[in-house]
Amino acid sequence: MTTTTAPKTYRVKSFGCQMNVYDGDRMGELLTEQGLTAAAEGDDADLVVLNTCHIREKAAEKVYSDIGRLKREDGSTPLIAVAGCVAQAEGEEIMKRAPSVKMVVGPQAYHRLPDMLERARNGERVTDTDMPTETKFDALPKRRRSGTSAFLTVQEGCDKFCTYCVVPYTRGAEISRPYGDLIEEAKRLVDAGAREITLLGQNVNAWTGENAKGQTVGLEGLIRELDAIPDLARIRYTTSHPNDMAQGLIDAHGDVGKLMPYLHLPVQSGSDRILRLMNRSHSVESYLAVLERVRAVRPDIAISGDFIVGFPGESEQDFADTLRLIDQVGYAAAFSFKYSPRPGTPAATMDEQISAEVMDERLKRLQALMIEKQVAFNAASVGKVTDVLVEKRGRQPGQWLGKSPWLQSVHFEGDVAIGDLVKVELVQAGPNSLAGLLI
Ligand code: 5AD
Ligand code: SF4
Repeated sequence: MTTTTAPKTYRVKSFGCQMNVYDGDRMGELLTEQGLTAAAEGDDADLVVLNTCHIREKAAEKVYSDIGRLKREDGSTPLIAVAGCVAQAEGEEIMKRAPSVKMVVGPQAYHRLPDMLERARNGERVTDTDMPTETKFDALPKRRRSGTSAFLTVQEGCDKFCTYCVVPYTRGAEISRPYGDLIEEAKRLVDAGAREITLLGQNVNAWTGENAKGQTVGLEGLIRELDAIPDLARIRYTTSHPNDMAQGLIDAHGDVGKLMPYLHLPVQSGSDRILRLMNRSHSVESYLAVLERVRAVRPDIAISGDFIVGFPGESEQDFADTLRLIDQVGYAAAFSFKYSPRPGTPAATMDEQISAEVMDERLKRLQALMIEKQVAFNAASVGKVTDVLVEKRGRQPGQWLGKSPWLQSVHFEGDVAIGDLVKVELVQAGPNSLAGLLI
Protein backbone atom coordinates (compact mmCIF):
# COMPACT_ATOMS: atom_id res chain seq x y z
CA MET A 1 0.00 0.00 0.00
CA THR A 2 1.21 3.48 -0.77
CA THR A 3 1.07 6.27 1.72
CA THR A 4 0.58 9.69 0.21
CA THR A 5 1.69 12.90 1.83
CA ALA A 6 -0.92 14.63 3.93
CA PRO A 7 -3.08 17.05 1.94
CA LYS A 8 -2.37 20.64 2.94
CA THR A 9 -5.14 22.47 1.11
CA TYR A 10 -8.79 21.65 0.49
CA ARG A 11 -11.78 22.83 -1.48
CA VAL A 12 -15.39 21.94 -0.69
CA LYS A 13 -17.78 22.36 -3.61
CA SER A 14 -21.40 22.28 -2.49
CA PHE A 15 -24.32 21.76 -4.85
CA GLY A 16 -28.05 21.89 -4.23
CA CYS A 17 -29.85 23.10 -1.16
CA GLN A 18 -28.89 25.42 1.67
CA MET A 19 -28.43 22.46 3.97
CA ASN A 20 -25.61 21.32 1.72
CA VAL A 21 -24.09 24.78 2.02
CA TYR A 22 -24.26 24.41 5.79
CA ASP A 23 -22.74 20.90 5.64
CA GLY A 24 -20.03 22.18 3.29
CA ASP A 25 -19.14 24.95 5.78
CA ARG A 26 -18.97 22.43 8.59
CA MET A 27 -16.72 20.10 6.58
CA GLY A 28 -14.50 23.09 5.90
CA GLU A 29 -14.28 23.84 9.62
CA LEU A 30 -13.51 20.21 10.34
CA LEU A 31 -10.71 20.12 7.77
CA THR A 32 -9.34 23.42 9.08
CA GLU A 33 -9.20 21.87 12.53
CA GLN A 34 -7.15 19.06 11.01
CA GLY A 35 -4.58 21.63 9.94
CA LEU A 36 -5.62 22.00 6.28
CA THR A 37 -6.23 25.41 4.75
CA ALA A 38 -8.86 26.37 2.20
CA ALA A 39 -7.36 26.66 -1.29
CA ALA A 40 -7.61 30.16 -2.71
CA GLU A 41 -10.05 30.76 -5.57
CA GLY A 42 -8.58 29.34 -8.78
CA ASP A 43 -5.75 27.49 -6.99
CA ASP A 44 -5.26 23.75 -7.16
CA ALA A 45 -6.33 21.95 -3.96
CA ASP A 46 -4.78 18.76 -2.54
CA LEU A 47 -8.18 17.53 -1.37
CA VAL A 48 -11.48 18.20 -3.13
CA VAL A 49 -14.82 17.39 -1.52
CA LEU A 50 -17.74 17.28 -3.95
CA ASN A 51 -20.78 17.84 -1.75
CA THR A 52 -23.49 16.56 -4.05
CA CYS A 53 -27.25 16.89 -4.46
CA HIS A 54 -29.58 14.11 -5.57
CA ILE A 55 -32.92 15.87 -5.55
CA ARG A 56 -33.37 16.18 -9.31
CA GLU A 57 -32.17 15.23 -12.76
CA LYS A 58 -28.80 13.99 -13.79
CA ALA A 59 -27.26 14.34 -10.37
CA ALA A 60 -25.02 11.31 -10.72
CA GLU A 61 -23.86 12.15 -14.25
CA LYS A 62 -22.92 15.60 -13.04
CA VAL A 63 -20.77 14.08 -10.32
CA TYR A 64 -18.90 11.92 -12.83
CA SER A 65 -18.24 14.88 -15.10
CA ASP A 66 -17.09 16.97 -12.11
CA ILE A 67 -14.73 14.16 -11.13
CA GLY A 68 -13.41 14.01 -14.69
CA ARG A 69 -12.75 17.74 -14.67
CA LEU A 70 -10.54 17.44 -11.59
CA LYS A 71 -7.90 15.60 -13.60
CA ARG A 72 -4.76 17.74 -13.87
CA GLU A 73 -2.71 18.26 -17.03
CA ASP A 74 -0.12 15.70 -15.89
CA GLY A 75 -2.85 13.11 -15.44
CA SER A 76 -2.81 13.20 -11.62
CA THR A 77 -5.83 14.08 -9.52
CA PRO A 78 -6.29 15.63 -6.11
CA LEU A 79 -7.55 13.40 -3.32
CA ILE A 80 -11.28 13.26 -4.11
CA ALA A 81 -14.11 12.76 -1.65
CA VAL A 82 -17.72 12.54 -2.77
CA ALA A 83 -20.12 13.69 -0.05
CA GLY A 84 -23.80 14.60 0.13
CA CYS A 85 -26.93 12.88 -1.11
CA VAL A 86 -25.51 11.28 -4.28
CA ALA A 87 -22.83 9.69 -2.09
CA GLN A 88 -25.56 8.31 0.14
CA ALA A 89 -27.70 7.00 -2.70
CA GLU A 90 -25.04 5.77 -5.12
CA GLY A 91 -21.86 5.40 -3.10
CA GLU A 92 -21.01 1.87 -4.20
CA GLU A 93 -21.59 2.68 -7.84
CA ILE A 94 -19.34 5.75 -7.59
CA MET A 95 -16.54 3.66 -6.09
CA LYS A 96 -16.87 1.18 -8.96
CA ARG A 97 -17.05 3.70 -11.76
CA ALA A 98 -14.62 6.37 -10.58
CA PRO A 99 -11.27 4.96 -9.43
CA SER A 100 -9.97 8.44 -8.64
CA VAL A 101 -12.53 8.80 -5.85
CA LYS A 102 -10.92 7.72 -2.58
CA MET A 103 -13.69 8.59 -0.14
CA VAL A 104 -17.47 8.43 -0.26
CA VAL A 105 -19.22 9.95 2.73
CA GLY A 106 -22.95 10.33 3.38
CA PRO A 107 -24.64 13.41 4.87
CA GLN A 108 -24.91 11.87 8.33
CA ALA A 109 -21.33 10.59 8.52
CA TYR A 110 -19.11 13.49 7.48
CA HIS A 111 -17.87 14.13 11.01
CA ARG A 112 -15.78 10.99 10.41
CA LEU A 113 -13.88 12.61 7.53
CA PRO A 114 -10.59 13.00 9.46
CA ASP A 115 -10.42 9.27 10.10
CA MET A 116 -11.39 8.50 6.51
CA LEU A 117 -8.70 10.86 5.29
CA GLU A 118 -6.09 9.05 7.31
CA ARG A 119 -7.15 5.71 5.85
CA ALA A 120 -7.28 7.11 2.32
CA ARG A 121 -3.72 8.38 2.74
CA ASN A 122 -2.71 4.81 3.47
CA GLY A 123 -4.07 3.73 0.13
CA GLU A 124 -7.50 2.54 1.23
CA ARG A 125 -10.69 3.55 -0.55
CA VAL A 126 -13.21 4.32 2.14
CA THR A 127 -17.01 4.44 2.04
CA ASP A 128 -19.08 5.61 4.99
CA THR A 129 -22.79 5.97 4.34
CA ASP A 130 -23.88 4.97 7.83
CA MET A 131 -26.52 6.90 9.64
CA PRO A 132 -24.89 6.57 13.05
CA THR A 133 -26.87 7.03 16.22
CA GLU A 134 -24.31 9.45 17.62
CA THR A 135 -25.04 12.73 15.95
CA LYS A 136 -22.49 14.32 13.72
CA PHE A 137 -23.30 17.66 15.33
CA ASP A 138 -21.78 16.53 18.64
CA ALA A 139 -18.60 15.45 16.90
CA LEU A 140 -18.08 18.56 14.79
CA PRO A 141 -15.77 21.34 15.97
CA LYS A 142 -17.31 24.39 17.65
CA ARG A 143 -18.11 27.06 15.09
CA ARG A 144 -15.58 29.81 14.61
CA ARG A 145 -16.43 31.62 11.43
CA SER A 146 -19.39 33.19 9.73
CA GLY A 147 -20.42 35.67 7.06
CA THR A 148 -23.08 38.34 7.58
CA SER A 149 -25.80 35.85 6.83
CA ALA A 150 -25.40 32.38 8.32
CA PHE A 151 -27.21 29.08 8.01
CA LEU A 152 -27.92 26.98 11.07
CA THR A 153 -29.28 23.46 10.61
CA VAL A 154 -31.80 22.85 13.39
CA GLN A 155 -33.67 19.87 11.99
CA GLU A 156 -32.71 17.27 9.48
CA GLY A 157 -34.28 14.37 7.65
CA CYS A 158 -37.87 13.81 6.77
CA ASP A 159 -40.60 11.32 7.68
CA LYS A 160 -43.19 12.63 5.22
CA PHE A 161 -42.34 10.45 2.22
CA CYS A 162 -43.77 12.56 -0.56
CA THR A 163 -43.83 10.06 -3.41
CA TYR A 164 -41.39 11.98 -5.65
CA CYS A 165 -38.75 12.77 -3.05
CA VAL A 166 -35.42 11.11 -2.17
CA VAL A 167 -34.82 13.10 1.00
CA PRO A 168 -36.25 10.52 3.44
CA TYR A 169 -33.86 7.99 1.92
CA THR A 170 -30.72 10.13 1.62
CA ARG A 171 -31.02 12.24 4.78
CA GLY A 172 -32.82 9.69 6.89
CA ALA A 173 -35.45 10.08 9.60
CA GLU A 174 -36.46 13.43 10.99
CA ILE A 175 -34.38 14.62 13.93
CA SER A 176 -34.45 17.91 15.85
CA ARG A 177 -31.17 19.16 17.27
CA PRO A 178 -31.32 20.08 20.97
CA TYR A 179 -32.35 23.60 21.97
CA GLY A 180 -29.25 24.36 24.06
CA ASP A 181 -26.85 23.29 21.30
CA LEU A 182 -28.64 25.51 18.82
CA ILE A 183 -28.62 28.58 21.03
CA GLU A 184 -24.92 28.03 21.64
CA GLU A 185 -24.16 27.61 17.94
CA ALA A 186 -26.23 30.70 17.13
CA LYS A 187 -24.29 32.78 19.69
CA ARG A 188 -21.03 31.57 18.22
CA LEU A 189 -22.18 32.54 14.74
CA VAL A 190 -23.14 36.00 15.99
CA ASP A 191 -19.79 36.37 17.79
CA ALA A 192 -18.13 35.46 14.47
CA GLY A 193 -20.01 38.23 12.64
CA ALA A 194 -23.44 36.84 11.66
CA ARG A 195 -26.20 39.47 11.70
CA GLU A 196 -28.76 37.18 10.15
CA ILE A 197 -29.39 33.52 10.89
CA THR A 198 -31.50 31.29 8.69
CA LEU A 199 -32.68 28.19 10.54
CA LEU A 200 -32.59 25.22 8.22
CA GLY A 201 -34.42 21.94 8.07
CA GLN A 202 -36.14 19.79 5.49
CA ASN A 203 -39.21 20.32 7.66
CA VAL A 204 -37.89 23.13 9.76
CA ASN A 205 -41.27 24.01 11.22
CA ALA A 206 -41.55 20.49 12.64
CA TRP A 207 -38.59 21.28 14.91
CA THR A 208 -39.31 20.62 18.54
CA GLY A 209 -37.18 20.68 21.66
CA GLU A 210 -36.99 21.35 25.35
CA ASN A 211 -36.21 24.90 26.40
CA ALA A 212 -34.09 26.00 29.38
CA LYS A 213 -37.12 25.68 31.65
CA GLY A 214 -37.72 22.10 30.57
CA GLN A 215 -40.83 22.96 28.54
CA THR A 216 -41.41 21.36 25.16
CA VAL A 217 -41.49 24.08 22.54
CA GLY A 218 -41.86 24.36 18.78
CA LEU A 219 -39.73 26.40 16.42
CA GLU A 220 -41.22 29.63 17.78
CA GLY A 221 -39.61 28.86 21.17
CA LEU A 222 -36.21 28.78 19.54
CA ILE A 223 -36.95 31.90 17.51
CA ARG A 224 -38.02 33.84 20.59
CA GLU A 225 -34.78 32.95 22.37
CA LEU A 226 -32.70 33.96 19.34
CA ASP A 227 -34.61 37.24 19.24
CA ALA A 228 -32.92 38.09 22.55
CA ILE A 229 -29.35 37.81 21.18
CA PRO A 230 -28.30 41.48 21.08
CA ASP A 231 -26.15 41.61 17.94
CA LEU A 232 -28.39 39.40 15.86
CA ALA A 233 -30.57 41.51 13.59
CA ARG A 234 -32.62 39.03 11.57
CA ILE A 235 -34.04 35.54 11.84
CA ARG A 236 -35.38 33.46 8.97
CA TYR A 237 -36.27 29.79 8.57
CA THR A 238 -36.73 27.38 5.70
CA THR A 239 -38.21 24.99 4.45
CA SER A 240 -41.62 24.52 6.01
CA HIS A 241 -44.35 21.99 5.44
CA PRO A 242 -47.92 23.35 5.35
CA ASN A 243 -49.12 20.73 7.85
CA ASP A 244 -46.55 21.71 10.48
CA MET A 245 -47.41 25.41 10.52
CA ALA A 246 -48.49 25.57 14.17
CA GLN A 247 -50.35 28.59 15.52
CA GLY A 248 -47.47 29.36 17.90
CA LEU A 249 -45.12 29.83 14.95
CA ILE A 250 -47.70 31.88 13.08
CA ASP A 251 -48.13 34.10 16.16
CA ALA A 252 -44.37 34.65 16.26
CA HIS A 253 -44.67 36.33 12.86
CA GLY A 254 -46.96 38.85 14.50
CA ASP A 255 -44.79 39.84 17.46
CA VAL A 256 -41.14 38.79 17.12
CA GLY A 257 -39.35 41.86 15.80
CA LYS A 258 -36.34 40.06 14.32
CA LEU A 259 -38.36 37.37 12.55
CA MET A 260 -38.48 38.49 8.93
CA PRO A 261 -41.78 38.72 7.05
CA TYR A 262 -41.03 35.90 4.67
CA LEU A 263 -42.38 32.38 4.51
CA HIS A 264 -41.20 29.69 2.14
CA LEU A 265 -44.12 27.28 2.07
CA PRO A 266 -43.97 24.82 -0.81
CA VAL A 267 -47.29 23.58 -2.16
CA GLN A 268 -45.92 21.64 -5.21
CA SER A 269 -49.24 21.56 -7.08
CA GLY A 270 -52.57 23.36 -7.17
CA SER A 271 -54.53 20.17 -7.84
CA ASP A 272 -55.86 18.10 -4.95
CA ARG A 273 -55.77 15.00 -7.12
CA ILE A 274 -52.03 15.45 -7.76
CA LEU A 275 -51.38 16.39 -4.13
CA ARG A 276 -52.92 13.06 -3.14
CA LEU A 277 -50.73 11.17 -5.62
CA MET A 278 -47.76 13.06 -4.21
CA ASN A 279 -48.73 12.02 -0.67
CA ARG A 280 -48.48 15.64 0.42
CA SER A 281 -51.18 15.17 3.08
CA HIS A 282 -52.54 18.68 2.62
CA SER A 283 -55.07 20.07 0.17
CA VAL A 284 -55.16 23.33 -1.75
CA GLU A 285 -57.80 24.54 0.67
CA SER A 286 -55.83 23.68 3.81
CA TYR A 287 -52.74 25.34 2.30
CA LEU A 288 -54.67 28.51 1.57
CA ALA A 289 -56.11 28.45 5.08
CA VAL A 290 -52.58 28.44 6.53
CA LEU A 291 -51.65 31.44 4.41
CA GLU A 292 -54.74 33.25 5.57
CA ARG A 293 -53.80 32.70 9.21
CA VAL A 294 -50.25 33.94 8.59
CA ARG A 295 -51.44 36.99 6.72
CA ALA A 296 -53.88 37.78 9.52
CA VAL A 297 -50.95 38.44 11.88
CA ARG A 298 -48.48 39.74 9.30
CA PRO A 299 -50.32 41.21 6.30
CA ASP A 300 -47.14 42.22 4.44
CA ILE A 301 -45.54 38.76 4.61
CA ALA A 302 -43.86 37.58 1.41
CA ILE A 303 -44.82 34.04 0.43
CA SER A 304 -42.66 31.82 -1.71
CA GLY A 305 -43.17 28.25 -2.84
CA ASP A 306 -41.85 25.26 -4.72
CA PHE A 307 -43.69 23.73 -7.67
CA ILE A 308 -43.25 20.52 -9.59
CA VAL A 309 -44.67 20.38 -13.11
CA GLY A 310 -45.32 17.15 -14.95
CA PHE A 311 -45.80 14.87 -11.97
CA PRO A 312 -47.04 11.49 -13.30
CA GLY A 313 -50.68 11.77 -14.33
CA GLU A 314 -50.76 15.60 -14.31
CA SER A 315 -53.47 16.63 -16.79
CA GLU A 316 -53.83 19.99 -18.47
CA GLN A 317 -56.63 20.69 -15.98
CA ASP A 318 -54.39 19.83 -13.00
CA PHE A 319 -51.75 22.16 -14.36
CA ALA A 320 -54.31 24.91 -14.95
CA ASP A 321 -55.29 24.53 -11.28
CA THR A 322 -51.65 25.15 -10.31
CA LEU A 323 -51.56 28.33 -12.39
CA ARG A 324 -54.79 29.47 -10.79
CA LEU A 325 -53.35 28.92 -7.32
CA ILE A 326 -50.22 30.93 -8.20
CA ASP A 327 -52.42 33.73 -9.42
CA GLN A 328 -54.51 33.64 -6.28
CA VAL A 329 -51.63 33.54 -3.74
CA GLY A 330 -49.59 36.35 -5.28
CA TYR A 331 -46.20 34.80 -4.59
CA ALA A 332 -43.15 36.98 -4.04
CA ALA A 333 -40.89 34.25 -5.42
CA ALA A 334 -40.95 30.59 -6.34
CA PHE A 335 -38.80 27.70 -7.39
CA SER A 336 -40.26 25.49 -10.08
CA PHE A 337 -38.98 22.20 -11.36
CA LYS A 338 -39.79 19.59 -13.96
CA TYR A 339 -40.67 16.34 -12.28
CA SER A 340 -37.66 14.04 -12.21
CA PRO A 341 -38.12 10.34 -11.42
CA ARG A 342 -35.85 9.46 -8.50
CA PRO A 343 -34.83 5.82 -8.36
CA GLY A 344 -36.47 4.02 -5.46
CA THR A 345 -39.28 6.51 -4.93
CA PRO A 346 -42.91 5.43 -5.51
CA ALA A 347 -43.64 8.05 -8.19
CA ALA A 348 -40.80 6.82 -10.39
CA THR A 349 -42.82 3.73 -11.30
CA MET A 350 -46.25 5.36 -11.51
CA ASP A 351 -48.21 5.14 -14.75
CA GLU A 352 -48.63 8.10 -17.06
CA GLN A 353 -45.18 9.65 -16.85
CA ILE A 354 -45.36 13.00 -18.64
CA SER A 355 -43.30 13.62 -21.77
CA ALA A 356 -40.33 15.99 -21.73
CA GLU A 357 -42.03 18.29 -24.27
CA VAL A 358 -45.15 18.71 -22.17
CA MET A 359 -43.06 19.34 -19.07
CA ASP A 360 -40.95 21.95 -20.87
CA GLU A 361 -43.98 23.73 -22.13
CA ARG A 362 -45.71 23.73 -18.72
CA LEU A 363 -42.58 24.90 -16.93
CA LYS A 364 -42.28 27.83 -19.36
CA ARG A 365 -45.88 28.85 -18.77
CA LEU A 366 -45.53 28.56 -15.02
CA GLN A 367 -42.33 30.56 -14.95
CA ALA A 368 -43.79 33.29 -17.16
CA LEU A 369 -46.67 33.69 -14.72
CA MET A 370 -44.28 33.61 -11.79
CA ILE A 371 -42.20 36.43 -13.25
CA GLU A 372 -45.36 38.49 -13.60
CA LYS A 373 -46.11 37.85 -9.93
CA GLN A 374 -42.57 38.67 -8.83
CA VAL A 375 -42.59 41.91 -10.81
CA ALA A 376 -45.93 42.83 -9.24
CA PHE A 377 -44.68 42.04 -5.75
CA ASN A 378 -41.50 44.07 -6.23
CA ALA A 379 -43.35 46.96 -7.88
CA ALA A 380 -45.64 47.17 -4.87
CA SER A 381 -42.55 47.75 -2.69
CA VAL A 382 -41.49 50.87 -4.59
CA GLY A 383 -41.85 53.94 -2.38
CA LYS A 384 -41.26 52.01 0.86
CA VAL A 385 -38.47 53.01 3.21
CA THR A 386 -37.08 49.85 4.69
CA ASP A 387 -34.12 48.21 6.43
CA VAL A 388 -31.56 46.60 4.18
CA LEU A 389 -28.87 44.27 5.47
CA VAL A 390 -25.68 44.94 3.50
CA GLU A 391 -24.23 41.66 2.21
CA LYS A 392 -21.65 42.48 -0.43
CA ARG A 393 -20.37 44.94 -3.02
CA GLY A 394 -22.42 45.28 -6.20
CA ARG A 395 -21.19 44.96 -9.75
CA GLN A 396 -20.87 48.71 -10.39
CA PRO A 397 -18.19 50.72 -8.58
CA GLY A 398 -19.56 52.23 -5.37
CA GLN A 399 -22.57 49.94 -5.43
CA TRP A 400 -23.69 47.69 -2.56
CA LEU A 401 -26.03 44.73 -2.47
CA GLY A 402 -28.24 43.84 0.43
CA LYS A 403 -31.55 42.22 1.30
CA SER A 404 -34.85 43.75 2.27
CA PRO A 405 -36.92 42.10 5.01
CA TRP A 406 -38.88 40.39 2.20
CA LEU A 407 -35.67 38.81 0.87
CA GLN A 408 -35.54 41.07 -2.16
CA SER A 409 -32.08 41.96 -3.46
CA VAL A 410 -31.58 45.70 -3.21
CA HIS A 411 -28.73 47.62 -4.83
CA PHE A 412 -27.79 51.13 -3.79
CA GLU A 413 -24.82 53.45 -3.36
CA GLY A 414 -23.40 55.08 -0.26
CA ASP A 415 -20.97 54.97 2.60
CA VAL A 416 -21.78 51.65 4.27
CA ALA A 417 -20.02 48.44 5.27
CA ILE A 418 -20.89 44.76 4.95
CA GLY A 419 -23.04 43.72 7.90
CA ASP A 420 -24.66 47.17 8.36
CA LEU A 421 -28.40 47.41 8.65
CA VAL A 422 -29.30 50.61 6.81
CA LYS A 423 -32.44 52.51 5.85
CA VAL A 424 -33.07 52.58 2.14
CA GLU A 425 -35.90 53.97 0.04
CA LEU A 426 -36.91 51.51 -2.67
CA VAL A 427 -37.18 53.50 -5.87
CA GLN A 428 -37.25 51.09 -8.81
CA ALA A 429 -38.26 47.47 -9.28
CA GLY A 430 -37.29 44.66 -11.65
CA PRO A 431 -38.20 40.96 -11.50
CA ASN A 432 -35.12 39.98 -9.49
CA SER A 433 -33.97 43.10 -7.68
CA LEU A 434 -34.80 46.65 -6.63
CA ALA A 435 -32.85 49.85 -6.79
CA GLY A 436 -32.69 51.87 -3.59
CA LEU A 437 -31.52 55.22 -2.23
CA LEU A 438 -29.65 55.27 1.05
CA ILE A 439 -31.47 57.51 3.51
N1 5AD B 1 -38.55 16.12 -9.18
C1 5AD B 1 -38.68 17.46 -9.30
N2 5AD B 1 -38.63 18.29 -8.25
C2 5AD B 1 -38.44 17.75 -7.03
N3 5AD B 1 -38.34 18.31 -5.81
C3 5AD B 1 -38.13 17.33 -4.92
N4 5AD B 1 -38.09 16.13 -5.52
C4 5AD B 1 -38.28 16.36 -6.84
C5 5AD B 1 -38.35 15.54 -7.98
N5 5AD B 1 -38.24 14.23 -7.89
C6 5AD B 1 -38.49 19.73 -5.58
C7 5AD B 1 -39.69 20.02 -4.67
C8 5AD B 1 -39.04 20.38 -3.37
C9 5AD B 1 -37.78 21.03 -3.85
C10 5AD B 1 -36.70 21.13 -2.82
O1 5AD B 1 -37.35 20.22 -4.92
O2 5AD B 1 -40.40 21.11 -5.20
O3 5AD B 1 -39.83 21.25 -2.58
FE1 SF4 C 1 -39.22 15.59 0.39
FE2 SF4 C 1 -41.84 15.85 1.02
FE3 SF4 C 1 -40.00 15.53 2.96
FE4 SF4 C 1 -40.09 17.83 1.58
S1 SF4 C 1 -41.72 17.02 2.92
S2 SF4 C 1 -38.24 16.65 2.09
S3 SF4 C 1 -40.67 17.13 -0.44
S4 SF4 C 1 -40.54 14.01 1.39
